[in-house]
Amino acid sequence: MKIIDGRAISAQIKKEIAEEVARIKEAGGKTPHLAAILVGHDGGSETYVANKVKSCEEVGFNSTLIRYEDDVAEEELLDRVNQLNHDPDIDGFIVQLPLPKHISETKITEAIDYRKDVDGFHPVNVGRMSLGMPCFLSATPSGIMELLKRYEIETRGKHCVILGRSNIVGKPAAMLMMQKAYPGDCTVTVCHSRTPNIKEITLQADIIIAALGVPEFLTGDMVKEGVVVIDVGTTRVPSDKTKSGFKLTGDVKFDEVAPKCSYITPVPGGIGPMTIVSLLKNTLLAGKKEIYQ
Ligand code: GUN
Repeated sequence: MKIIDGRAISAQIKKEIAEEVARIKEAGGKTPHLAAILVGHDGGSETYVANKVKSCEEVGFNSTLIRYEDDVAEEELLDRVNQLNHDPDIDGFIVQLPLPKHISETKITEAIDYRKDVDGFHPVNVGRMSLGMPCFLSATPSGIMELLKRYEIETRGKHCVILGRSNIVGKPAAMLMMQKAYPGDCTVTVCHSRTPNIKEITLQADIIIAALGVPEFLTGDMVKEGVVVIDVGTTRVPSDKTKSGFKLTGDVKFDEVAPKCSYITPVPGGIGPMTIVSLLKNTLLAGKKEIYQ
């Protein structure tokens, strides 16, 4: 059994990006610039955005954090998105989700110029991803693909079972794993809350991507020997053993499942650290105008 070390791979990729940014700057090129809009003071969002900004600095990007209070009007946010769309110095930007209830996330996402949508949430990017065209790939599916690739895990002809059908993980991961490509070329089954016989299906899986958001859902009796398990779950479960008062818990009962695996991602330290790297990769591509002019 091999543990897939997302922390080590993400550090390696950050180093590669930093080297490329240094080369771009030396050659007199433009420093990639990411902007992030954060609305309100949600603890999780604050941490995620702070990490994104910090990572930009680490690799030599410029970054701008734009903050609004919870009561910002949708119209004001749309105006700011439009301004960023037209700002030639901003290569890419994100609006951290979730947004307050009175603001439509769909409206905001669609208002972002898809050529600057480094989150890969705009329907144009999602559509292009589904068609196998160059696009900004969203962070979690991109992180999964990168880890499979870096560990040279065979996916061709394998049965990949995906637990969860969310727009940000399950659905795009299913599209990518069935694509005629590597990683990909899998037979894909997507299970969700209405699937009656999940265990029967997971027992047939060569690769399982668990993205349900149900802590320790996948147990040892649900997997076969040699399976590859990618755990996307990150539920904050209350704990009196940690300083923060919670423990980040995956969708996989690690102690039971890991001994049966050929490869498995831990939580934390698996997919989590890869998501920021995906954002950095997209911002670099945006800065280089490599996907869209
Ligand atoms: N909220 C949770 N994950 C994400 C993400 O990848 N991008 C944005 N914008 N918001 C999020």
